[in-house]
Amino acid sequence: MMISSSALKNAESILKKSQIPSWRLDAEILLAKVLCKDRSELIIRNNIKISNKKAFTFNRYIDRRKKFEPVAYILNNKEFFSLDFFVNKNSLIPRPETELMVEKAIKIYQNKAPNILDIGTGSGCIIISVLRHLPKSRGIGLDISKNAIKVAKFNSKRLLKVYNKRIKFMNLSIEKLSNNRIFDLILANPPYINSKDIRNLSRDIKRYEPKIALDGGKDGLDVIKKVIYKSLKILKHNGTLAIEIGNNQYFAVSKLLRKNGFKETTLLKDYKNNIRCIFSTLK
Ligand SMILES: C[S@@+](CC[C@H](N)C(=O)[O-])C[C@H]1O[C@@H](n2cnc3c(N)ncnc32)[C@H](O)[C@@H]1O
Repeated sequence: MMISSSALKNAESILKKSQIPSWRLDAEILLAKVLCKDRSELIIRNNIKISNKKAFTFNRYIDRRKKFEPVAYILNNKEFFSLDFFVNKNSLIPRPETELMVEKAIKIYQNKAPNILDIGTGSGCIIISVLRHLPKSRGIGLDISKNAIKVAKFNSKRLLKVYNKRIKFMNLSIEKLSNNRIFDLILANPPYINSKDIRNLSRDIKRYEPKIALDGGKDGLDVIKKVIYKSLKILKHNGTLAIEIGNNQYFAVSKLLRKNGFKETTLLKDYKNNIRCIFSTLK
């Protein structure tokens, strides 16, 4: 039998030695999960007894984290827009900046019934969150990765339940989607990292997150271009296209949008004041 304070201390020192920057937080989160307690309770009470079985599970988690596997993959869970999404190595871990796009889309279409396309749906976090808040809307989540689509379907069954009939998933590359002008709103968080920059990402990301979800080709714009060209053919008149972009891509993407007849309507900035999402309409 182990005691929580000593289990934590031990785990923290292992993670610290392995150069995990968030060693304390991660050890606490993982132990809290194993014990089915809140992290705050772990901090307040330091003498919780841990069964051998739970200690074994905790040690396995710490072993994985020590190798830089993200906590979200270890626990198969990431909170996004106040919902718990299942995630695994086939789906990007939803990021907080993507919540900005979801929030804005919901605001714009409140009380309306848009037909929505989510390009590169991954875990399904964008389309599922939006459909939960726009009960009259319908949507399609599309992804080139068959395994990501499995994750999105799983999340949709768990989180949309009654709305499930209003969502469909398609496993294809965006340029293969047929050209029907049926969408009021297109949302996309495409891979946008320059291929050369992938090796500069943190070990958590480059070792564990799917390359196909990150790599945007030589200038990071390969999939963004595909999204813009396809949107030209499938967006209804006055429809909206929202694209999440990388830190320094605003100028290039803005130019592409203008060249293709889109008019920017809203720009969203992250907490570091970088433009991270562009909303535009077809002129
Ligand atoms: C940055 S991830 C976004 C995942 C999720 N939407 C999110 O925000 O967390 C990009 C996604 O686009 C998918 N993808 C990459 N190239 C694609 C393409 N040509 N057509 C459709 N999906 C693509 C990847 O498989 C990945 O799931």
